[in-house]
Parts: sequence; structure tokens; C-alpha cells
Amino acid sequence: MTTHTTKKRALSGIQPTGAPHIGNYFGAMKQFVDMQNQFDMHVFVAEYHAMTTVQDPAVLRSNIENLILDYLAIGLDPEKVTLYRQSDVPELTELTWMFNCLVTVPWLERAHAFKDKSDKGIEPSVGLFDYPVLMAADILLPNSQVVPVGKDQVQHVEMAREVARKFNNTYGDTFIEPDEYVIESVAVVPGTDGQKMSKSYGNTIPLFGTDADIKKAIMGIVTDSKTPEESKDPETCNVFALHKLITSEPQLSEIRQGYEKGGLGYGESKKILLDNYLSFIAPMREKRIYYEENPGIVRQILDEGAQKIQKIAHAKIKEVREKVGL
Ligand code: ADP
Ligand code: TRP
Repeated sequence: MTTHTTKKRALSGIQPTGAPHIGNYFGAMKQFVDMQNQFDMHVFVAEYHAMTTVQDPAVLRSNIENLILDYLAIGLDPEKVTLYRQSDVPELTELTWMFNCLVTVPWLERAHAFKDKSDKGIEPSVGLFDYPVLMAADILLPNSQVVPVGKDQVQHVEMAREVARKFNNTYGDTFIEPDEYVIESVAVVPGTDGQKMSKSYGNTIPLFGTDADIKKAIMGIVTDSKTPEESKDPETCNVFALHKLITSEPQLSEIRQGYEKGGLGYGESKKILLDNYLSFIAPMREKRIYYEENPGIVRQILDEGAQKIQKIAHAKIKEVREKVGL
């Protein structure tokens, strides 16, 4: 297959810090699936990053296994995507060290993830402080050109570009400056309380939750107190924002009309959303169960992914070691 080499290399990862929610899915994971035909797609489990917050080994191990199943369940095709675990590429930590010697403390202090945590009074670990540099290594070591991420990660991709530039200026042309790729219409998926959906706000709809968990989350979405008969603005409704991601036409237009003209209550709108979500997730759940019941297949997929990424990583780190004088 020669087509492979002409495709741009895209790369992204998710931290195994807990069960993914529909914000992670529509904001990031779905893009990985949508991109797998046009790009030389690389997707990994950001387990080194997760260690900045998860320090229980049993929890980390289980989160990693679950994220791999989630990746396969949403439709990442191991024939098209290089799927791997970050810890199968220990060269990433070596490259992080080299980058650490180039970037400065004030520069890293500007990163908002770190700023948010220290503003909240959390005493940051060195690992958390260095998070963007490890992320730059993830992106730059395999020569990635495009990085699909949610809006909150754009700053980190910008920082990876700056790291590439700094290294290239110091040691000569070595790394590609990557571009982020954000789908604007789903850049921020609202949570059940209307804020950005996030594990840390407890306002999530779990992607692969049980029927009961999903029902509880959807029926609990915050709305104003208008009666079913009153006219409502769909654009300011948290339920409608999720319909836009899940409900297809012509039903979506009917719901919009029900809001604008009155007649459709929030409770009814939530029930429709719940039904549509459960139909939407059904085939993915089936796939997830298949991989759960076939751990040998999953292991083989990860072995092949590790081999592919290691080949790239070994070649690149060799070049980098020579450039820096090791
Ligand atoms: P969380 O905020 O729940 O901890 P993460 O920071 O682990 O989520 O995010 C993983 C990926 O999902 C990132 O690419 C992030 O941009 C994306 N993402 C997370 N929450 C949302 C959201 N509410 N809307 C869109 N994308 C999101
Ligand atoms: N920081 C990303 C997040 O929290 C995860 C991540 C780590 C990542 N390394 C990456 C994303 C490299 C894209 C590319 O979601």
C-alpha cells in the first residue's frame, strides 16, 4: 500500500483518569474515528499524564484497560489506526527531559491547566507542571502534523509548536510544527448543569454508563421552569444543545418547533433525548462487549500498535541524540 505515505500524520491521546463522557466523545474521540480514513492516524492512552492525578495502581490499570475498550468500541479500526499505550514508548520521557532543558519555568507557568490547579490552592507536582512538555514529546517524537483535540487543549498544542521551534533553532531542523484540529460546532459540549461537561465538575453523561446512570444524568439536566405550553428558546436550552449532537433530522427540526411554538415540555424533550442516545450507543456497546470477551485480540492489537510506534520512535530518538551531542 503506497497511499499510506501520502497521508498527513495525525495524533491524539486521552488520559485514563476515569470513564469517558459524551463531552470527551463529541469533543475529541469521535474526531479520531472520523479522521482515520484521511489521515495516518495515531491514537494512544496518555497514562504517564494520568499519573499526575491517579496514584492508585489498581485504579490506573483498570482505567487503562477500559479506555482501550472504549477506543475500540467507538469504531477506531486497528487496520487504519496505530493504537498504543504511552508507556510502550519510554523514549517519550527521554525527549521530555531534553525539552525540559530548553524551556523555561516562566514559560511553563503560563499553561492554564497548571494555573487553574494552583489557583485552586492545589500544590502542583513537578509532573503536573511539566505536563505540557510531555505532551509536546508525545506530539513531536512521531512527527505529527495534525492534532485533533477539544478547545481546552489548544494551548498545549501551541506550546508543542513553540517547543519544536525552540529545538529547531537550537539544534537545527528536526521537528515538524504541528497544527491543532478543533471542530468548532462541538468545541465545548455543555454538561447537565450548563457548564462545560467535565469529570471534575460532576456534570457528565457517561458515554458507556448503564441505562440507569444515563437516564439519571439526562433527566437531571438543568432547565428553566417554563411550562410545556410556553414558547422556549432552543438555543439557550442545555437539553437542546445535546439534541443537536445526537438527534437527527427531521426529528431535530420538529423538536426545535416544539420549543419555539410551545407544546413540547422539557421532560418530554429529555425522554426523546434519552431514547435517541440509547439507540445511538447500542452498536458501540455491542462492540465493547465483543472486545471485552476477547482479550487476546485486544492484546494483539496493542502489540502491533507498539511495534509500529516503536519503529518511528527509535529512528527519531536516534536522530535527536545525535543532534544534541549525545
Ligand atoms: P475532563 O475535563 O472531563 O477531565 P479531559 O480533560 O480528560 O476531560 O479531556 C479529554 C479530551 O476531551 C480533550 O481533548 C478535551 O478537550 C475533550 N473534552 C473534554 N470535555 C469536553 C467538553 N465538555 N466538550 C468538548 N470536548 C471536551
Ligand atoms: N492533555 C490531553 C488531555 O488532557 C491528553 C494528551 C496527552 C494529548 N498527550 C497528548 C492529546 C498529545 C493530544 C496529543 O486531553
